[in-house]
Amino acid sequence: MSEQFEIIEDRDDIPSNPTRNPRISDLIDARFSRRGFFKGLMATSAVVGAGIATRGVAKAQSASTLTFKSIPQKITETHAVAEGYDADVLIRWGDKVVADAPEFVPGQVDATAQNKQFGYNCDYVGYMPLPVGSNSSDHGLLCISHEYTNAELMWPGLKDSMGASQEQALHEIAAHGHSIVEIKKTNGKWQVIDGSKYARRISALDTEMQITGPAAGHDRLKTSSDNTGTRVIGTLNNCAGGKTPWGTILISEENFNGYFGGDIAKTSEERNYKRLGISPESWYSWIKYFDRFNVEKEPNEPNKFGWMVEIDPYDPTSMPKKRTALGRFKHEGATVVLNKDNSIVAYSGDDQRFDYLYKFVAANKYNPNDRAANMDLLNEGTLYVAKFNDDGSLDWMPLIFGEGPLTAENDFNSQADVLIETRRAADLLGATQMDRPEDVEPNPVNGKVYVMLTNNSKRKEGNAPNPRAANPHGHVLELTPPGGRGKDADHTANRFTWDIMLAAGNPSNPDDKAVYHPAAESWLSCPDNMAIDHRGRLWISSDGAQGSDIPDGMWATDVDGPGRALTKFFFACPVGAEMCGPEFTPDGTTLFLAVQHPADGSSYEAPSTRWPDFADGIPPRPSVVAVTKQDGGEIAG
Ligand code: FEO
Ligand code: CA
Ligand code: CA
Repeated sequence: MSEQFEIIEDRDDIPSNPTRNPRISDLIDARFSRRGFFKGLMATSAVVGAGIATRGVAKAQSASTLTFKSIPQKITETHAVAEGYDADVLIRWGDKVVADAPEFVPGQVDATAQNKQFGYNCDYVGYMPLPVGSNSSDHGLLCISHEYTNAELMWPGLKDSMGASQEQALHEIAAHGHSIVEIKKTNGKWQVIDGSKYARRISALDTEMQITGPAAGHDRLKTSSDNTGTRVIGTLNNCAGGKTPWGTILISEENFNGYFGGDIAKTSEERNYKRLGISPESWYSWIKYFDRFNVEKEPNEPNKFGWMVEIDPYDPTSMPKKRTALGRFKHEGATVVLNKDNSIVAYSGDDQRFDYLYKFVAANKYNPNDRAANMDLLNEGTLYVAKFNDDGSLDWMPLIFGEGPLTAENDFNSQADVLIETRRAADLLGATQMDRPEDVEPNPVNGKVYVMLTNNSKRKEGNAPNPRAANPHGHVLELTPPGGRGKDADHTANRFTWDIMLAAGNPSNPDDKAVYHPAAESWLSCPDNMAIDHRGRLWISSDGAQGSDIPDGMWATDVDGPGRALTKFFFACPVGAEMCGPEFTPDGTTLFLAVQHPADGSSYEAPSTRWPDFADGIPPRPSVVAVTKQDGGEIAG
């Protein structure tokens, strides 16, 4: 969700972790001190400032493997991309998805139409090659999540969703979820194929989903519309996501708490809902019209949200499955890695200040020769939460019913209870409180795992020598599994090591205590999502940089070699927008980007931009952009 004008107080992210578990920032400081690195960090900050201001480009050209030249950090009404590249709008809010979808009509309120059109606030983007199992980079499915809606930018006369009519509320519900479109590159340009048999809208309006795994069928998931505890209509607040080796996608349910309201004290789930931030005041008008969003009327409905959802995009009739084995929290996303021994490991961050980092290891092995045998691998396995140690090691602690404090004494009576209240279980194990974990992704080239920690302005404790006691700009962690580089890395191991890849912020401002390569070309703030290109280089998207008067957008850096942490700025979002969904084609010649909530902070009547149409009467439209190199070559190659 948008952070840019809300660094100080953000309703998405009022911390709800009551424990005093060690915080990552305390540990970072401990490690810096332990290594005597802290003095070095201060010195580096000053050098980086000079590098960016005066001599960064010359140095960067020798150190970085990224061949593009940084663009200026300037917020404008439109997007910008590095010289030599094209950034073409591929699909916009309201564009046709399924064959009989009507054309977009500005200002129209029509949930039936919206349910066939591209939804709002595109976030996760997954490219799935066609034909199935191929490595095609010019024909595939694009799978895009729609995280939330900005009612005040969709229709006139609204300050936010709370003023929406019932018809508008239904339209908003239909604009949430996911879109699948077939795309093809012809003469160097991508196009959506009209009438594709794969085209599909998945929405919060009417898409039935199955609840699977250890929590499925539990009494705490039973509601008046589903007495089995195994079915639910829709998915909410689908933020980032991931892909599996068997050709499915995983979409996340992040800030689902905001859709519910009512007095949680009147339910038997008060402790559970409080820990997830469900408050009496919903963020959406939906609660006025539909009982399922009111916990006083439907007390178990929120337990059906907060999960990862698996979708088979190659089968448009398949029912999406919520995978409870991966835990219930504000999933930013989940990324899956195939371990050398064919084990399946999924990493996931809980996007809230002071919340945790998780991984899941499936009980059964991947079968490379039998897709059907893999389709329910995510139903059984062990969920772990991260505990960072100040000696530079990291322990993955299993969340298993009956072990340690996860017993009836603490009101856990089954693994279902542990999963439904994953956060509370992790609290009891002493997990490390993080500065808002967003994307977590394994790098297939060097075998390490990268963690985007977007910011934590709430973190006030610390002491004078603690330079990032408040962390408004975020940082990037690098986790190292044992075993070696690339495929040798053992992601199933219980103990990793960790390090800091970079600390974001403006190096010209000593208070930021930013850490980059001395010749970094461009500084960033609030790292959120990421992509790793096929050379193993890290592409970082931001959400909240506009709070520092620079655009949100896409930065890139090497992770190994002389260009490590030498950040370069590749793509700038239009005013109000955050950058989401970075996704490369397998050959690295196309980078798909999602521009979410352009004109955020303004109104339908007076939008701060009408991106991307720039036509009178046409509102700003969240859109997916396809970036290609004008010579057709590999991006930054
Ligand atoms: Fe939806 Fe964590 O950003
Ligand atoms: Ca975001
Ligand atoms: Ca995000």
